[in-house]
Amino acid sequence: MKYEFDSETKKWLEETYSKILAKMDAECLRIGDKIPYISENGKYVHDMAEKDIYWWTNGFWAGMLWQMYHATEDEKYKNTARAVGKKLDRALEGYIELHHDVGFMWLHSSVADYRLTGSKEARTNGLHAANILAGRYNPHGKFIRAWNGDCTGWIIIDCMMNIPLLYWASNEQKDPRFLYIATDHANTAMEKLVRADGSCNHIGILNPENGELLEAPGGQGYAPGSSWSRGQAWAVYGFALSYAHTKNQVYLDTAKKIAHYFIANVSGTGFLPLVDFRAPAEPVIFDSTAGVCAACGMLEIAEHVGEFEKPLYINAAVNILKATEKKFCNWDIDFDSIVGNGVASYHGRGGDFEVPIIYGDYFFIEGILRLLEKDFLIW
Ligand code: GLY
Repeated sequence: MKYEFDSETKKWLEETYSKILAKMDAECLRIGDKIPYISENGKYVHDMAEKDIYWWTNGFWAGMLWQMYHATEDEKYKNTARAVGKKLDRALEGYIELHHDVGFMWLHSSVADYRLTGSKEARTNGLHAANILAGRYNPHGKFIRAWNGDCTGWIIIDCMMNIPLLYWASNEQKDPRFLYIATDHANTAMEKLVRADGSCNHIGILNPENGELLEAPGGQGYAPGSSWSRGQAWAVYGFALSYAHTKNQVYLDTAKKIAHYFIANVSGTGFLPLVDFRAPAEPVIFDSTAGVCAACGMLEIAEHVGEFEKPLYINAAVNILKATEKKFCNWDIDFDSIVGNGVASYHGRGGDFEVPIIYGDYFFIEGILRLLEKDFLIW
């Protein structure tokens, strides 16, 4: 037993798991191999396979299904996840519009399939995606460039969640090149994006010739120098994962520093993160997705620290997941999506503002399955 909970928390976890089972059973049958993104009034109106097969979130539904397959061994989750993965693989063939987020996309589809079933085809597609990510490496600046177009020198904190695809490929192929790229990127992110107090820049614009930091725009946060909470969450989990894959202590220390900053900031808001920890006091805007991602990162940190440190991270994760469940979850099985109030960016006020976004559901499910020891490491 990794975790010991009080009876109230045990009961809450059991009830929440039952609700996840009912919800995912209904959604799996209803959504099938469509690729969902944002639920509008309780319906996933668009299939992202039709709307934008390259969209960065397109792996999360498959990831949810593979987690459910691992937890339940119910074949319908495996079959549906495979069908979703097959659609997603069209983007590998298309290639040209692919970007740094291939890790989010193929860790959750092909690599998860390979890890759970040993499928050779899935392994090939995962390696193909890893090679695309490695191909984005800038050896002079020592980073994986973000996005396409004229962002030549751009590094972003989100990409810490993509590099586990390279750690996986390095192990699979017994080839350290992928590891070198991943650790160069992690080191550059640590140096250019993580600040001394544990907060992070979202974006660093580097001189592509030598990696010098030229500018740090506000990105999806409030402004330059502010602290976009989902970016902080990507950093908590991303550095914890870099430690898990390399055992380089500096990554765990970095993950802990950012987690402490995150915990300090959610402690005053009922364990629900504001979309930016350094935005003006008004308007009050929460981003549920930052909380659930950070919670999973804290549980990953807890795997690697000493006995007396674990409770800090586990309790913070439980508090965040409980607060999110209470305030933002919808368990009506006829309503598509679980976690409401996701916010794509501070200044956005479009269809991706204060709505259920698929990655919120993924990290909520991963967090609950982790606490029940029913998850598998997808990263
Ligand atoms: N990776 C993009 C985002 O977090 O919105």
